[in-house]
Amino acid sequence: MSILIRNATVVTAGEEYVADVLCTDGTITEIGKDITDLEAEEIDGTGKYLFPGFIDPHVHIYLPFMGTFSKDDYVSASKAALMGGTTTMIEMCCPSRSDDPIEAIQLWKSKAAGISSCDYTFHMGVTRFDDTTEASLRRIVAEEKITSLKVFLAYKGALGIEDDELFKTLTFAAENKLVVTVHCENAELVAAIQRKLVAEGKTGPEWHEPSRPIAVEAEGCHHLMTFAEMTGAEVYVVHTSCIPAVEAITAARARGVRAHIETVASYLTLDSSYAELPDFEGAKYVMSPPLRAKEHGDFLWEKIADGTINTVGTDHAPFDFKTQKHMGHPVECVDAEMKPTGKPGNFTLIPNGIPSVEERVKLLYTEGVCEGKIDLRTLVKCASTNAAKIFGLYPRKGAIEVGSDADLVLWDPGYRGKISVETHSMATDYSAFEGREIKGRAELVTVRGQVLVRDGEWQGKGGEGEFLEREI
Ligand code: URP
Ligand code: ZN
Ligand code: ZN
Repeated sequence: MSILIRNATVVTAGEEYVADVLCTDGTITEIGKDITDLEAEEIDGTGKYLFPGFIDPHVHIYLPFMGTFSKDDYVSASKAALMGGTTTMIEMCCPSRSDDPIEAIQLWKSKAAGISSCDYTFHMGVTRFDDTTEASLRRIVAEEKITSLKVFLAYKGALGIEDDELFKTLTFAAENKLVVTVHCENAELVAAIQRKLVAEGKTGPEWHEPSRPIAVEAEGCHHLMTFAEMTGAEVYVVHTSCIPAVEAITAARARGVRAHIETVASYLTLDSSYAELPDFEGAKYVMSPPLRAKEHGDFLWEKIADGTINTVGTDHAPFDFKTQKHMGHPVECVDAEMKPTGKPGNFTLIPNGIPSVEERVKLLYTEGVCEGKIDLRTLVKCASTNAAKIFGLYPRKGAIEVGSDADLVLWDPGYRGKISVETHSMATDYSAFEGREIKGRAELVTVRGQVLVRDGEWQGKGGEGEFLEREI
């Protein structure tokens, strides 16, 4: 099976040029001018951009969290991702402290196998490090083909680990050349401030940001940087939201710490005022670290443009508004089965997360490229190529080169539309970007040469995606 995309402007991390791209049996087989292949289906790319498939390095699809489960499964999430131009997702495998890590990764894999339309892999969550952990992690690397870990400094008692466990995890990672992705917020500070605010009657979603201020995130980053410096581990700070956090990491880089920085689309396109919306609407915008004042978003755009920030993911964490987010309603608090608890709720009970896997590239293009904040090559770097390089997928993914997987996004820059829950493919009952004007869209999307989106319409059947084995 061959497809020939003619005359599009190929945009990669390093180049922009007009060419024909031929894909045969799932890989890119030829790039050039006036390619002939009488067997191939021809697609006219004139006036359009051809990007390497976008990679979201931070999603949650199966997530038991804060007393409930995230809303998407791999059918809805991978369809949503592809409709937005994302062809590979890296999910966080998040076992609880009491779970067996090998059983956990097998469970997470089973949630995707046979139904994902995207290609996918996982960051292995380390939520406990005891005498058995090292042997389990060795097996997960060797047999389950995972080469990156995930650690939470936040959420102590649930997913978060203690400092001695962090030291052991980073030491193991350094010895085995694994990248450790880390959620950096000081858990004790968050818990103390949360208690104080709730005791003062400050219970609405607008108090979520003050409970996790920028200093708390910066402290988490500084903390991780010290541990990375002591152990020599390569670390990747997920969902970096604010100026002092980026500064803590860049200061460590100057000391020789190997640290990558991820931000997420929500921090670039939303701000803390959204969590202040009346009638509990603000709960739609509760995520951690929280949405910040606009100056932080402006700074993050600058740091993407100058290459300080390596990647833009989503931290897609989908919870319904009418049911799940209401678990933290100050008056109408419900439990996970939607039964009134009879007790007043508060912001600490709102499941954290913003559904966004579908919207990341549209937002980066519309609010980044079209507004002159980033150029096209930077879009490709931060939303595809850099993640592929950091997480051992390059040049199979993140590239338009002969031999790369034929994961391609033909982007129509002339398209105009609006984001809405009415038309999105995610399973949630709301969109955090409702009504946003969008410029451009993924008109045609392929995963290893399979056309899964055509003319902006879904063509997939489910199960076209593959687990991506990674090796050191
Ligand atoms: O609010 C967030 N970020 N929810 C998902 C869990 C996490 O911390 O990544
Ligand atoms: Zn996190
Ligand atoms: Zn996350």
